[in-house]
Amino acid sequence: MKTEKENGGKRRVIMRGLLATAVAMVGVLPLTPSQAADKIKVGFMLPYTGTYASLGNTIANAFKLAVAESGGKLAGREIEYYTVDDESDPAKAPENTNKLVKRDRVDVLVGTVHSGVAIGMAKIARETNTLMIVPNAGADEITGPLCAPNIFRTSFSNWQPGYATGKIMADKKYKTAVTLTWKYAAGQQMVDGFKEAFQKGGGKVLKEMTLPFPNVEFQPFLTEIASLKPDAVFVFFAGGGAVKFVKDYAAAGLKGKIPLYGTGFLTDGTLEAQGADAQGIITALHYADGLNTPKDNAFRAAYKKAYNAEPDVYAVQGYDAAQLLRIGLEAVKGDVSKKEQMYKAMGAAKIDSPRGTFTLSKAHNPVQDFYARQVNGKENKSTGIAVKALADPAHGCKL
Ligand code: PHB
Repeated sequence: MKTEKENGGKRRVIMRGLLATAVAMVGVLPLTPSQAADKIKVGFMLPYTGTYASLGNTIANAFKLAVAESGGKLAGREIEYYTVDDESDPAKAPENTNKLVKRDRVDVLVGTVHSGVAIGMAKIARETNTLMIVPNAGADEITGPLCAPNIFRTSFSNWQPGYATGKIMADKKYKTAVTLTWKYAAGQQMVDGFKEAFQKGGGKVLKEMTLPFPNVEFQPFLTEIASLKPDAVFVFFAGGGAVKFVKDYAAAGLKGKIPLYGTGFLTDGTLEAQGADAQGIITALHYADGLNTPKDNAFRAAYKKAYNAEPDVYAVQGYDAAQLLRIGLEAVKGDVSKKEQMYKAMGAAKIDSPRGTFTLSKAHNPVQDFYARQVNGKENKSTGIAVKALADPAHGCKL
């Protein structure tokens, strides 16, 4: 016969066991966002090798700077980074995107630089309703036929800087031009934007020339430009390829003879390496040096302090990707499961960017001013606004 005391003792042991089990179970239950235990998983899919490597690193650095300025958190939640080097290789885009979406289960995809890779990413982001923020790649399709409620861009569509540069060239009354670029979406779409504005202003394109990405054997094209003798040349190159092209153009004796123009990527983040060969080049872009606004001055000082380098357009786009994410997360108090509400807040965002405040179009592409810039020393100095509040036509977007 057990005494009451013994039975009570046994009951207390059982109760303690049940309590311990209950506590352990709560530990594995998903916590509510207000408990803010989980980190937001940000997946960077960017080029960390190849001709666009410096662009990818700059974007990631500036994104992290914006997060650091918010105390290392967005909407009160800590950020955890996952990283994949996409190598600017469109063939590897599905596999690389799935590393972040399926394996790491990121909350947001941030990427990328190369238009062809970004198209592959966007297809998976659409299928899986994963939030995607594009901090560079201009593929017109992303805010055109592939547009989606969950896909946003803080950079540009390829058409935009092409059009703005073509407008500057038409306003200079050039009658003829030759174009040269890498043969893939970015180059072809920027040339299309350029042609639209240049031809509208009465200009004629004598020849469109291309070479495969990321080749830098420019010599035969420079020889052809010299023999065609156009009034001006329009190109798209960026990163390491842009450095080499500007140097080769000067070495071929064309600098000072046939004016060289391009979308601003030709001289952004490259001036240190291009030196004297870049002086005087006129481009158009949604960012410039010497804007001298309080927001831009503060951003430039903070970036320089953090990374001991001057920021460029890629830094601005990466910084604004984090700003846009913050706006979305704050609207849902960090609860990423409230997707519709988050996307709605992001679509309506007014972003206080170092480039100047911008909004997003219905297709989620920036509606922004394009600056005329001219290289002076190590700066792409703004010489004024070439096209105000330029919106991409968003052909094929059904939102
Ligand atoms: C692109 O592939 O969309 C691209 C790459 C580099 C740039 C601009 C656009 O600087």
